[in-house]
Amino acid sequence: METDEREFFREATLRICGSLDVETFLYESFKYIRQFIPADSIFLTHYCAERGEHVALAQASAEGASLLHLAIPVPPDIRSFVMRPDRVALVVERAETHPTARPWISKGLLEKDSSLLVLRLIVDGDIVGGVTFISKVSAAFNEEHAHLSSLLREPFAIALSNSLRYQELLELKELLAEDNRFLHSELRHKTGEEIIGADFGLRGVMEMVRQVAPLSSPVLLWGETGTGKEVIAGAIHNLSGRREGPFITVNCGAIPENLVDSELFGHEKGAFTGALARKRGRFERANGGTIFLDEVGELQPEVQVRLLRVLQEKEIERVGGTESIKVDIRVIAATHRNLKAMIREGTFREDLYFRLNVFPIEIPPLRERKGDISSLVHYFMQKKAREMGRKDMPVLAPGALERLMSYSWPGNVRELENMVERSLILSGGKPIAFEDIQAPMNQSAAMGVLHIPHLAPGDTLALDAVVSRHIRKVLETANGRVGGKGGAADLLQVNPSTLRKRMRKLGIPFGRKKAEL
Ligand SMILES: Nc1ncnc2c1ncn2[C@@H]1O[C@H](COP(=O)(O)OP(=O)(O)OP(=O)(O)O)[C@@H](O)[C@H]1O
Ligand SMILES: [Mg+2]
Repeated sequence: METDEREFFREATLRICGSLDVETFLYESFKYIRQFIPADSIFLTHYCAERGEHVALAQASAEGASLLHLAIPVPPDIRSFVMRPDRVALVVERAETHPTARPWISKGLLEKDSSLLVLRLIVDGDIVGGVTFISKVSAAFNEEHAHLSSLLREPFAIALSNSLRYQELLELKELLAEDNRFLHSELRHKTGEEIIGADFGLRGVMEMVRQVAPLSSPVLLWGETGTGKEVIAGAIHNLSGRREGPFITVNCGAIPENLVDSELFGHEKGAFTGALARKRGRFERANGGTIFLDEVGELQPEVQVRLLRVLQEKEIERVGGTESIKVDIRVIAATHRNLKAMIREGTFREDLYFRLNVFPIEIPPLRERKGDISSLVHYFMQKKAREMGRKDMPVLAPGALERLMSYSWPGNVRELENMVERSLILSGGKPIAFEDIQAPMNQSAAMGVLHIPHLAPGDTLALDAVVSRHIRKVLETANGRVGGKGGAADLLQVNPSTLRKRMRKLGIPFGRKKAEL
């Protein structure tokens, strides 16, 4: 069959230059070209003259394409041969007989008896790479095939250099984004967030922070949502010898499950589809500084194992990498969940818990340090007014503070901060009254949580009995959980340890004891 060369060139070029994605253009063009050239697969390589190696970027066959990023050294004695730009297409009848093919055979990419058709890609007189057609049978290619393939030399050369540039761009973009994130966190910590209540409601917490900050021991912060765990983690970093190093935050619950490994530990180029460039993970970026593992209770068991390894060995391995990288980091973890209960349920590893829980700090909820509310409100009013560019400083309306003090703040400091911001926007310059705060009596009813039962005649009125009955009812509502958000202590607005003490005294079983009953 006579091939219409112009048609062949046009159709093949459209496919070769149809995408920047190496896998896509190699597969699409191969599907077309194999109607004319009897190949079973095709490889695209980039030639790196400085290192004297080919890098096999991708391969395609009738089944599909895959990225490889595999370095194949060119033995020094044949480099000058590889560099010869005179012959455009080279036909090799049996791979084994050709010196440049031997490293491919030893890497398992080629069978000894395969035949090859190699197209050298040249840009501005330099070899930039090659396209290799492979047939499983010997002597599959003839001069006609060599001629046809040579028509595609330029389109392939253009596609290769475009996709290399594109990858370079992606790498630079990732580096820039990384720098940006780093500078942002630097800025945040240089400007230093003020800790309100440091000498008052958070005094005990700050004492512990000062004790532990200079050491490199792990710290586990426990506190309800919005209590200021991240603020305290930042304070530990700023008061430590690592303050000049990075402070890297990882929100363990916010990273998609399939990306956790590569986010934390990084990946090598080509480690998986889409890993176009090498990426440093958060642990590597935190080197010399602090890593803050927020919501550590959300980590999947497999990731918990790998985290444990990092804590023990102080080294990481990138996904798809083989070398271990030493890291010098301080780990601060935080959770609002009851990790001990999670250990009992089998969702959190006990050995990891012991590694993280070297120095636990519990941050009390705002309702247990209501004395801080006044200074927090004033601090947030000034901060928000400044951010909004207000010239006049807002003031509180009479009775506003009392209203704030009588509320239970389930969302803690964050809720207060948001409430201040919202009220400031709505106040229109008038004194702020915080009128939208729910009255304390309606609060629990509005939350749909508790209904205190009316007493029936003859019911015992002994205080302990009433309290005990009430706690049991609340416990039922909380599905038997004492601590954590939505747990009995949370609903009753008391400290979990206070509640447990009370329950022990009243003989109400909980936790393991309850399970045994
Ligand atoms: N003591 C404090 N002084 C000043 N601002 C505070 C204080 N505590 C918390 N904040 C502010 O309240 C907000 C919530 O704090 P942070 O993010 O540290 O809480 P968190 O415990 O990490 O919450 P979550 O569990 O939801 O992640 C932040 O904007 C923080 O700046
Ligand atoms: Mg947080």
